Amino acid sequence: MNFFKISWAILLCIAISTSSFAQINTSTEKKIDSLISLMTLQEKIGMIHASGAFTSGGVKRLGIPELVMSDGPSGVRREIGNFWEYYRKPRPGYLDSSTYLPVGMCLAATWNPILGYAYGKVLGSEANFRGKDVILGPSVNIIRTPLNGRNFEYQSEDPYLSGKISVEYIKGVQDQGVSASVKHFAANNQEVDRRTINVEMSERALREIYLPAFKAAVVEGNVNTVMGAYNKLRGQHASHNEYLNNKILKGEWGFKGLVMSDWEAANNTLEALLYGLDIEMGVEIDLGTDPTKYNKYVLADTSVVPLVKSGKVPESVIDDKVRRILRVMYKTRVIEGNRPQGAYNTLEHQQIALKVAEEGIVLLKNTNNILPLNKSKIKSIAVIGANADRKNALGGGSSQVKAFYEITPLQGIKTIAKDKIAINFTEGYRIERTPTANTDSLIKEAVKLASSADVAIVFGGWTNKNTDTDRLFLDAETNDKPNMDMPFGQDKLIAAVLKANPKTIIVLLGGGAIDITQWEEKASGIIESWYSGMEGGNALAKIIFGEVNPSGKLPVTFPRKLEDSPAHKLGEYPGNGNTVHYKDDIYVGYRYFDTYKVKPQFAFGHGLSYTTFRYNNIKTRKIAPDKVEVTMSITNTGKIAGAEVVQLYIKDEKSSLPRPYKELKSFQKVFLKDGESKHLTFLLNSDAFSYYDDRNGKWVVEPGIFELLIGSASDDIRLKHKFSL
Ligand code: BGC
Repeated sequence: MNFFKISWAILLCIAISTSSFAQINTSTEKKIDSLISLMTLQEKIGMIHASGAFTSGGVKRLGIPELVMSDGPSGVRREIGNFWEYYRKPRPGYLDSSTYLPVGMCLAATWNPILGYAYGKVLGSEANFRGKDVILGPSVNIIRTPLNGRNFEYQSEDPYLSGKISVEYIKGVQDQGVSASVKHFAANNQEVDRRTINVEMSERALREIYLPAFKAAVVEGNVNTVMGAYNKLRGQHASHNEYLNNKILKGEWGFKGLVMSDWEAANNTLEALLYGLDIEMGVEIDLGTDPTKYNKYVLADTSVVPLVKSGKVPESVIDDKVRRILRVMYKTRVIEGNRPQGAYNTLEHQQIALKVAEEGIVLLKNTNNILPLNKSKIKSIAVIGANADRKNALGGGSSQVKAFYEITPLQGIKTIAKDKIAINFTEGYRIERTPTANTDSLIKEAVKLASSADVAIVFGGWTNKNTDTDRLFLDAETNDKPNMDMPFGQDKLIAAVLKANPKTIIVLLGGGAIDITQWEEKASGIIESWYSGMEGGNALAKIIFGEVNPSGKLPVTFPRKLEDSPAHKLGEYPGNGNTVHYKDDIYVGYRYFDTYKVKPQFAFGHGLSYTTFRYNNIKTRKIAPDKVEVTMSITNTGKIAGAEVVQLYIKDEKSSLPRPYKELKSFQKVFLKDGESKHLTFLLNSDAFSYYDDRNGKWVVEPGIFELLIGSASDDIRLKHKFSL
């Protein structure tokens, strides 16, 4: 095990980010005022809408450049022309590749905020190198249904975990002098009808589930920019939603940065002006390939000037938008121009991609310790399944990355096996929208290979390819998955291979839960590998052969069946074409499975290790009326080094409003050598005990008995302790 050999120096410590808007001192605010006073109305309006596919306007005369943006969220995206032209023909010689990091779900599965920071640092550094001012990430929408085509890009079903990872991601980006853009604000939890759907939910669900990760990004992460969502919330488009932008974001949370729309998400000039949208972005807006199209935007001259001239909208409204843009520009030195140079395609960046994959891949099942494989005892491995040798960087939609390289699982396995183990590959199934292959003959070939090998590894799960020629709507923007079933005949293949060789390991790829009930009981080893970036194949192979001890934990519940998932059981999905009611309310993810006593396939927080941990010695100490210190010890009781994610949940014994059975309120990832013990301290403040009382519109902590539930997964609680507040 070289678990501890990884140089942590390359990952940096979490720097205390000082980059809040408080730094914008009065002299900068004065500079901003005087710049605004020099601008004509037209020049101001030129700054509040797109000037290109990924730029918003500047004012050349006054030395204000365009603001240059890039997707996001797991690599700096390829260069794109004003009509998405790279899809057809990448321009030769363009610097358009980047480090391809594991997707958001894999990052969240590390449960390691230090890696969130390192990840953001890679993005910030490469953004600098490529001349980008803003990275369009992190994506923090709550994973409400397993079907959402963009789940892979998001982080979790739990707002606390999403917030903790994303805050460090944002600091990582912004400490490089680049802006992050937390997206999509808010309630964008499905791709079906995403541009038009109206989301209705209780105030409590909004406050407890759908907003906290955004709030953390603003209040703790000091994020510079926020991207509004396509959908409507309570009847008004999110990108110019008075309640979301004016009341909550800029009012309650005191956000001083800028709000941009999602691409083509501004729909109404008056609302966009008055309800908090600062920059309208887009490419396709019904204007086709008209090169002057940007002047015809919702927030451009033609629409805005008459409203200001007629006095319907005071010019100060435009000034406020320009002021916010300039604030972000000064904060990130877009105006002065002396930005760090950044770095590109470095070993350090690749090592971070590797580390995130190593810590994010989750060992779901390991009966009779079928894993890790012993290199010196195995002579042959049958690697089965098209996903084993598929590259994923260019899939998924706007989050696609042109990777410098991408190691597939097959390559990773071959690298470790060298010439000592015979590795034979067969595709097993074809990834195609309309089946053309003879599935039976592919399965027959796979069975033949598996029965003559010492071990078989089958790669199944989702796929995210989404280009013009190969439109498969599984893990992909603009569409949700049709169901949770394994695609391309994988169930049949896996069942047949398991029968042919019981020493078969199943590796799942993709953006989360998939129905594996047809063969799960027969499988001894199951791994969730997500889309784990350019080094994903190496990370996975290291886990399979025990060079890395797995430490990833699920950031989402895997239900057994789609019907078991709360959005489908209690709620509505995808709505009636106009509106979707989130009747599942606050019972999202494990909050539902716990409270309603539904057994999932794999629980939130689940993930196995090759070693074992003992939890003991829990104590609590009240340090203020609603502040509690919790201490405990943890010991690695196995024979190898490993890392455990200690998860702390709070259960409120009695409350005036019903609450979920338990909620995640803290966690720590602890690295322990074999036999080593560590003493852990958790500090809980009122946030850990409060809930949103929508009768009074307030967060409340009700006195009474609370129970601490500390464990290795939401369904594997090792320590319990009651105390009263
Ligand atoms: C996506 C955003 C993305 C934008 C620009 C939109 O379709 O929803 O996440 O940043 O496109 O590519």
